[in-house]
Amino acid sequence: MDFNVQSPHEDDAMDDRVRELLRANEELKQLNARLSDAQDKLMQSEKLASIGQLAAGVAHEINNPIGFIFSNFTTLERYLGDLFQMLQAYEEAEAALAGSPILARLQMLRVKIELDFLKEDIPTLMNESRDGISRVRNIVQNLKDFSRVDTSQKWVRADIHHGIDSTLNIVNNEIKYQADVVKLYGDVPDIECLPSELNQVFMNLLVNAAHSIQRERGTITIRTGTQDEQVWIEIQDDGGGIAQENLSRIFDPFFTTKPVGKGTGLGLSLSYGIVKKHHGQIDVTSEVGTGTRFRVTLPVHHIEEG
Ligand SMILES: Nc1ncnc2c1ncn2[C@@H]1O[C@H](COP(=O)(O)OP(=O)(O)O)[C@@H](O)[C@H]1O
Ligand SMILES: [Mg+2]
Repeated sequence: MDFNVQSPHEDDAMDDRVRELLRANEELKQLNARLSDAQDKLMQSEKLASIGQLAAGVAHEINNPIGFIFSNFTTLERYLGDLFQMLQAYEEAEAALAGSPILARLQMLRVKIELDFLKEDIPTLMNESRDGISRVRNIVQNLKDFSRVDTSQKWVRADIHHGIDSTLNIVNNEIKYQADVVKLYGDVPDIECLPSELNQVFMNLLVNAAHSIQRERGTITIRTGTQDEQVWIEIQDDGGGIAQENLSRIFDPFFTTKPVGKGTGLGLSLSYGIVKKHHGQIDVTSEVGTGTRFRVTLPVHHIEEG
């Protein structure tokens, strides 16, 4: 066969194949771009995970010094109370010093150090400091609860309200300018779970809820309850809602409607995986313009694999 001479029919077939190849090539290119995009995002989530670990480590280290600062502070407050009492007694004794040069010196010193002001200001300073230390202690405790460095990856019985609350404290910054949080907690038993992983689910749902609110301010409502040996948690927002055509895709990895930098599209797919691991279920109802409600249902008892 002479390769240089082709029938018009063969020519067409060749063209078709070339077009087919070009199309396949184009598809491959797109796939490649998506893959490298996916890799970027994975690296970012890896980075987030290691930042989380770092934070947990720092929290662990801060916990101890904060503990003794807090305890010393309480003692210091008691000592100061005693000193003030002593001072009061000395002041009363001044009457007996009338006319003596010692009294003049005492009075000069009192003016110089502004004793009256000190007596007022010291308790205020102490209160503010106590408040500050308590807050640091809370943050550290929340970080520890959130990451559960001490009980990594063990199934334990845990109070989900505690998990939700410590998660709320962690993501408070993302939420507080966006929404008011209403908690309607039911009477639920502790559940056998991986608490730090469930906290990630709560975090994703809460942050998504906050992101969905585009108006001035919205409300995020958290409800919990029980049904047939299961515990359910609902996180509802009155934000923009999810378009019908997106509803089936929101759990897909990398599906996001958010601008680059704000969304990775991983939150819900990770959450889905975590809930599945717990043999639970995650459902969503949403209406554009009205809001969205996610419902996580979890068994009270852990079901062993296989
Ligand atoms: N509460 C919600 N309200 C409106 N849209 C939501 C809500 N939760 C999730 N979504 C939609 O699902 C998408 C995927 O969410 P997610 O997996 O957490 O990724 P990301 O938040 O990084 O975009 C979001 O981009 C958004 O379009
Ligand atoms: Mg998200």
